[in-house]
Amino acid sequence: MASHFLTLAIALSLSIAVASAGVIFEERFQDGWENRWVKSDWKKDENMVGEWNFTSGKWNGDPNDKGIQTSEDYRFYAISAEFPEFSNKDKTLVFQFSVKHEQKLDCGGGYMKLLSGDIDQKKFGGDTPYSIMFGPDICGYSTKKVHAILNYKDTNHLIKKEVPCETDQLTHVYTFILRPDATYSILIDNEEKQKGSLYKDWDLLPAKKIKDPEAKKPEDWDENEYIPDPEDKKPEGYDDIPKEITDPDAKKPEDWDDEEDGEWTAPTIPNPEYNGPWEAKKIKNPNYKGKWKAPMIENPDFKDDPDLYVYPSLKYVGVELWQVKSGTLFDNVLVCDDPEYAKNLAEETWAKHKEAEKAAFDEAEKNKVEEEVKDEPVDSDAEDDDAEDEETAHEALQCSENDVSSISGHQSAE
Ligand SMILES: *[C@@H]1O[C@H](CO)[C@@H](O)[C@H](O)[C@H]1NC(C)=O
Repeated sequence: MASHFLTLAIALSLSIAVASAGVIFEERFQDGWENRWVKSDWKKDENMVGEWNFTSGKWNGDPNDKGIQTSEDYRFYAISAEFPEFSNKDKTLVFQFSVKHEQKLDCGGGYMKLLSGDIDQKKFGGDTPYSIMFGPDICGYSTKKVHAILNYKDTNHLIKKEVPCETDQLTHVYTFILRPDATYSILIDNEEKQKGSLYKDWDLLPAKKIKDPEAKKPEDWDENEYIPDPEDKKPEGYDDIPKEITDPDAKKPEDWDDEEDGEWTAPTIPNPEYNGPWEAKKIKNPNYKGKWKAPMIENPDFKDDPDLYVYPSLKYVGVELWQVKSGTLFDNVLVCDDPEYAKNLAEETWAKHKEAEKAAFDEAEKNKVEEEVKDEPVDSDAEDDDAEDEETAHEALQCSENDVSSISGHQSAE
């Protein structure tokens, strides 16, 4: 009887555990995806909207596993999908997707955004406010990182920790996990690459503790680690040692004519006995107290926000990119509250196909090399110039991004 009850209890708690694993949005890009995603008209009037290609790409582990890929160079891309409004209060938020840069990306992003409230998806663009922006960003040699930008009270904040991203031409899974205890993790291919606290790794709130601005170094605080030895005395006659002496080896030249050349004097040389002005030798200062530091006090401007991690009205997931060179393929977009579920999805998709994809990629590379040998050599100089221009434009963008108050989007190489 008791064991029966136990079995029932276990079965019950198991079913509760399963039921509580909430998938808020999952898009594997199968037929019908176009009904769920809205292509924005942003940049349409300038004829700068790039087309998405529904494809598994040039190399893949499963030709039937398609995603959406940017297909035109020098174009803007903005697309979004809506899901039932969701608050992550008291829940773990997991945001995950896979991305493959088939174009050998030398400058561009592969990030996605979560947006809140009500937006006009037809107008979704670089200026549309977002809640979270997450994913890889590559530009030249200087930028190869994972962005994790959090909006807090209408201001975008970049993560302060460096998180390197993948730079090859294969599929990788990026996962952002945000927990109710205000900790986070960033995973690439199911491996944790960074973790920490919202309080420490973003400047969302003013610091909890600050140096006491009122504190002053006490007058008698001795910061000198070494002092001249008071016991040390200047040897007698020390100051009488001349700096220079007449060269004892110098001889008056034979053809020296006193009448014509004046009286001969021997040249002087530095005195090897001379040791500079006398200084007492240094000893450890017995009164040394170390470098003075202002004491830390509670920051009066700090007001804790127990809901720091909460996004009360998440409602859309979107991609908003400027691409110089197209070929970025997104797939398996997931918003859920269970890291285990996300991990399994990555295992079932990316992990299952990664070896076959790598083999297909190697094959494609081999064929490319063979074709290049047949063809005329390409003008690689012109390509290099291009890449440099892109890098400069992107760096300018990074600057404005660091001025976090001005972050609204991340493309605008206009
Ligand atoms: C879409 O992708 C496939 C596979 O890479 C490619 O063969 C095709 O040309 C692409 N279509 C467009 C319109 O870019």
